[in-house]
Amino acid sequence: MSTIGISESEFRALRDLIRERFGIYYDDTKQFLLQSRLQTRLLKARVADFAEYQRFLVASPDREAEWAELASVLSNNETYFFRERAQLDVLVTDVLDETLRSGGRLRVWSSACSTGEEPYTIAMMLTQAHRINPSSVTIHATDLSPRALDKATTGFYRELSFRATPVEMVQRYFRAFEGGFFINDEIKRMVSFSRMNLLDAKAVAAMGIHDAIFCRNVLIYFDKPTQKRVVEAFAQALRPGGFLFLGHAESIMRITDLYEPVVTPKAIYYRRK
Ligand SMILES: C[S@@+](CC[C@H](N)C(=O)[O-])C[C@H]1O[C@@H](n2cnc3c(N)ncnc32)[C@H](O)[C@@H]1O
Repeated sequence: MSTIGISESEFRALRDLIRERFGIYYDDTKQFLLQSRLQTRLLKARVADFAEYQRFLVASPDREAEWAELASVLSNNETYFFRERAQLDVLVTDVLDETLRSGGRLRVWSSACSTGEEPYTIAMMLTQAHRINPSSVTIHATDLSPRALDKATTGFYRELSFRATPVEMVQRYFRAFEGGFFINDEIKRMVSFSRMNLLDAKAVAAMGIHDAIFCRNVLIYFDKPTQKRVVEAFAQALRPGGFLFLGHAESIMRITDLYEPVVTPKAIYYRRK
């Protein structure tokens, strides 16, 4: 199969469309990454080149289905259970303490959940903590990629997903099956998955109010104005004092003043003012 080349002007036009739609930003160094990620899409869409593909995305009656496919192709879904554990410890201590004091439900949102390892880890840790009845916990998990969400709802994982998982957690919350493991039903039932684009401020506001939002390792793919837009929209979905957890390479300190940073020896996170 020969490669269809992308010209500089085609690259710029397509990456602007993608940024506008999903926030994911391909800077000038990523021209060939985009070219290679889109090769199979051009074939499936039966278009001859990138200029025609761009017109397809803008004007074809089938464009929405194609955008859904693109969402799965363009994103990096790298994730694993118990990633950046120190923040998860804050969830089962500080966040949970406040919820128990107020006597309410604990509402958590994993907002770029990829294939599900993050929200299932949250469910495992809350169950393991034995401090709150799982029926008093709501865990929403959303992502842009339909393919990642399919995998999350199937709940079947292989070795790489377990690179930071304590053995006793595997024994307790998974069952082995043909070279991998299924998450058990008790944990699965605690998480509800749905598709959501973080740039859709109306959808974010409609999520309801949460005590904690996890938005880890996704803002790095967005430019600064988009990062600002997303974290400011989260303020609609967090109670005052609510917790926002970002990835360790992500910071919003100079981006918005709606949040107060909290720096502890092990973890950094933000609280809604
Ligand atoms: C690297 S994964 C992070 C998974 C998990 N939060 C973690 O830290 O391990 C990034 C996820 O962000 C999702 N994503 C990218 N752009 C998005 C958007 N505009 N709305 C919602 N999710 C998005 C991707 O589909 C991908 O699954």
